[in-house]
Amino acid sequence: MLNEIKIPRHIAFIMDGNGRWAKKRLLPRKAGHREGVVALRRMVDECEKAGVEMVSFYAFSTENWTRPQDEIDALFKMVKEFADKYLDEYVKRGFRIMFMGDLSKLPKETVDALKRILEKAKDNKGMIVNIALNYGGRDEILHAVNILLDAGLRNVDMQTLSDCMYTAGLPDPDVIVRSSGEKRLSNFMLWQAAYAELVFVDDLWPDFDEKIFANIIDEYSRRDRRYGNIRRIN
Ligand code: IPE
Ligand code: IPE
Ligand code: MG
Repeated sequence: MLNEIKIPRHIAFIMDGNGRWAKKRLLPRKAGHREGVVALRRMVDECEKAGVEMVSFYAFSTENWTRPQDEIDALFKMVKEFADKYLDEYVKRGFRIMFMGDLSKLPKETVDALKRILEKAKDNKGMIVNIALNYGGRDEILHAVNILLDAGLRNVDMQTLSDCMYTAGLPDPDVIVRSSGEKRLSNFMLWQAAYAELVFVDDLWPDFDEKIFANIIDEYSRRDRRYGNIRRIN
């Protein structure tokens, strides 16, 4: 029997395996990151075609600062180039653009490029494209707690804490996809992942294409989401 296709409202990608993709081809790691940007753009297109409301990408974690400085520099240079080269087109396509994480630690040229885009996209109403930069799930929770403490609150409910997350008011990811065969969250969206379906794909991130995307949607569609109940909720 053919399965009914379900499109997640929010799909999140942990983009992993760029380094291994490059290594297999005897290329420098940054060549893998460059191809990773191409794969990200392919996934944005697929999400738009499928009618996804929000797509998130984990691009740089709070732990990635431990990498060699030249790799970090290359990554942020690429983020700036990506912003200058492609985000304008995304603004024209009506996408809402957001970045989650502590941007204050990023190189100034990168932050300036991101801010320019945020300003241009501020009235957009289309698909949300969320890019996590210097993001950590624990860091986000701590950041939220500090906002509440600064406001002098002594008692908080779930909603209040949720409203202090970077994703305030936005849907939790329905599905979190990780590439390259690693089966962990690596500090990604810890709060929001509570009921996310997890999909682990062996392919390396730069190889993500239309077919892999279709397989992910198919896999997601076959999951029974029960949210603690005894029957499928949606
Ligand atoms: C993911 O690819 C990109 C970032 C974490 C920035 P990796 O750079 O982690 O690639 P591998 O895991 O070494 O193959
Ligand atoms: C997770 O990938 C972070 C990003 C995709 C940005 P890593 O390659 O940094 O994760 P670990 O070290 O394998 O857990
Ligand atoms: Mg990795």
